[in-house]
Amino acid sequence: MKKLNFALTASALLVLVGCGGGRDYTPPADATGEKIFSSACTECHKPLSANVAMILSENVANKEAIIKKFQGGSMRMPAFKNIQGESADRLADYVLANSQVK
Ligand code: HEC
Repeated sequence: MKKLNFALTASALLVLVGCGGGRDYTPPADATGEKIFSSACTECHKPLSANVAMILSENVANKEAIIKKFQGGSMRMPAFKNIQGESADRLADYVLANSQVK
């Protein structure tokens, strides 16, 4: 029984690490924020409607926090280290302009 528990815990951890790991996605230089969002983010963040990409908590509803979130990731969200500079700017603008704040 102990062994089985260990195996279960180990595979649960692997799933967590798999999700929290970084992504190598690099946006094309001319990609719009919308394009980047649909390529990199909609796998998990399904847009709620044509104009609402995400629902943001109040403390994340600013550009710096959004950029920090996708570049740094979290336990359950992968880090996108290759979305930098102007691409990061455009993506954060898009998310901010197309989100509802809860
Ligand atoms: C593998 C799934 C996954 C992908 C891909 C993903 N996210 Fe997330 N994201 C999550 C999860 C799960 C959360 C909620 C947990 C958390 O905040 O850490 C989250 C939370 C967020 C939040 C904070 C929302 C809030 O109100 O707290 C932002 C902003 C965000 N994601 C932006 C993005 C952007 C932009 C991309 C694309 C570059 C992206 N995410 C790609 C899974 C993902």
